[in-house]
Amino acid sequence: MKYLVKTYGCQMNVHESEKLSGMMEALGYERTEDEKGCDVIIFNTCCIRHSAENKLLGNLSILKVLKANNPKLITAVCGCMSQQPDGADMLIKRNPYIDIIFGTHNLHCLGDYLAKHKKDGKQVVDIWDEGGIEEDIPVRREDDGRAWVNIMYGCDNYCSYCIVPFVRGRERSRNFDTVLAEVEGLIKDGVKEITFLGQNVNSYKSEKKDFADLLLVASKFDGDYTLKFMTSHPKDFSKKLVEVIASSSNIAKEIHLPVQSGSDRILGLMNRKYTRKQYLDLVALLRKFMPDCRLTTDIIVGFPSETQAEYEETLDLLKTVRFNKLFGFMYSKRTGTSAEKMDNQIPIDIKRKRIKELLDLQKQIERELL
Ligand code: 5AD
Ligand code: SF4
Repeated sequence: MKYLVKTYGCQMNVHESEKLSGMMEALGYERTEDEKGCDVIIFNTCCIRHSAENKLLGNLSILKVLKANNPKLITAVCGCMSQQPDGADMLIKRNPYIDIIFGTHNLHCLGDYLAKHKKDGKQVVDIWDEGGIEEDIPVRREDDGRAWVNIMYGCDNYCSYCIVPFVRGRERSRNFDTVLAEVEGLIKDGVKEITFLGQNVNSYKSEKKDFADLLLVASKFDGDYTLKFMTSHPKDFSKKLVEVIASSSNIAKEIHLPVQSGSDRILGLMNRKYTRKQYLDLVALLRKFMPDCRLTTDIIVGFPSETQAEYEETLDLLKTVRFNKLFGFMYSKRTGTSAEKMDNQIPIDIKRKRIKELLDLQKQIERELL
């Protein structure tokens, strides 16, 4: 019996697909990349932007053909898109060939859903409103010397454009000692690069310990390894954390620090809770402690009501910081977020012009940094 997992979206989903694979292998299934030769196909989905949803909906249409060729094929869709309000209904309406639909909070129930569907052949749809922390899910990691380790789930920040708090639930952190035991085990197994994952890693909290404490202890195991982490929120990036990163050669001097915009008015509307100056001060602090630190960022252009002058403040911030890499996005309206209802949505042609110019500027900066 063979299974295939198709993953869309961020590293969190990549890691959760390793858990889906781990559960399938514990049930005796073997992995395949061949869509035509599999018995179970699972789509682990993303809904961060309209383009991510469109890509998935396009790819889901192959299910009809796959089912026609192999009526016994079991098809499952899980992850952020199913977790959206009305997500499951929308998926079923568009694609009646899905056998199992579940969300982000009940990934660990995959085995039960498969058994249920195999027993009565009926469609299984189960979306939970809230989630906890499941520690006992088997993980099938790639054997490439690298490993993802989830340290916290969910997000409480409610940036006004972002769907994540709605589909990933409230912030919850894994236990300090449990994370460290996982890290130690991975190092003993020869893993050379461990990346801590969370929607907002630096709001990690376990009893009285914070993210800087976790990183510091994790950096002190015997062995030759590097620790990385993503994603950080600038508002929670403490001086203590900067000092911990600078203190250990086991912690990569690579920081992904999404700024989103260079305009204070837009940052306020985005509910980011920092100003341009506070962000620039943090960059200066990082560079003071680690002059060679590699900085990357995310930017959204065309947020509702963003003026040309405000957009130019973002370009100006890029010229000031000179990031090593940038992920640029056109604002995409997400149902249920507070930005959805904001006046003055920016026309697509202006967003396209702004993103092209932004990415061209970044290309030029990266060439100069070489
Ligand atoms: N539209 C465009 N970009 C978005 N991001 C999150 N939500 C949206 C949205 N609605 C971007 C942010 C975030 C990254 C993961 O995706 O820049 O940091
Ligand atoms: Fe979304 Fe903001 Fe949370 Fe990041 S911090 S996941 S952008 S709400």
